[in-house]
Amino acid sequence: MKLICANFKMNLLEEDIINYLDVIENKIDKNNTVFFPNNLYLKHFKDKNYLIGSQDISFKEFGSITGDTSPIQLKEFGITYTLIGHSERRLYFNDSKYISKKIALALKNNLKIVLCIGETLDEFNNQETFKVLKQELDEALKDSLNNLSNLNDNLIIAYEPIWAIGTGKIPTKDIIENTISFIKNYLKDTYNLNLKVLYGGSVNLDNIYLLDSISIVDGYLIGGASLDPTTFLALISKVSTY
Ligand code: 13P
Repeated sequence: MKLICANFKMNLLEEDIINYLDVIENKIDKNNTVFFPNNLYLKHFKDKNYLIGSQDISFKEFGSITGDTSPIQLKEFGITYTLIGHSERRLYFNDSKYISKKIALALKNNLKIVLCIGETLDEFNNQETFKVLKQELDEALKDSLNNLSNLNDNLIIAYEPIWAIGTGKIPTKDIIENTISFIKNYLKDTYNLNLKVLYGGSVNLDNIYLLDSISIVDGYLIGGASLDPTTFLALISKVSTY
């Protein structure tokens, strides 16, 4: 079964969320769909028994970190998943240096992690994609090397080329296939990890048929196309093994 992750980023207001939940009522597979709304709206999804995740967690459990939310607080609240290392967090919040700590803390608190990795357009054009992905994976895992079996059960990778996010552009089928197989093989050969790998970046109604034909892709991390409930339902209805 493919896993569908809906990342609302910093979008929508409470009345939109209430309407969203009305539209999707009884039309979603609750075991295979995870919603990542703004933390303010997690409760609405929780109350209807959807799987929920946060868009980030703190790199500490408690303390004087104004504006952050602890993995312990989020776990207590009832989230199952967290995104870690989204490129927007890396860009605006200098997140790259905290990712390995966040992963270790997420594991400690029994959260499932969706770790986002991906190259910039320059890196893609310079054929540095594999080098960048390898660096991002090594950096992310470095504080959890004594916990690899736990990673096997709780870590999912989302391959999101930065140049594909919000642009309407996606890599070719061959490139997605090769890149995801590189990620899976690298993790297997280097860390003995067998992980699911999602694709993210401009997943939409026009390209879902093509994406769905790539069997090595274990699911999707969807941004813009998840914001409108009707579009989101149409999109997931086209995923063959959803
Ligand atoms: P878009 O689907 O809007 O390109 O966003 C992808 C993304 O960043 C999901 O995390």
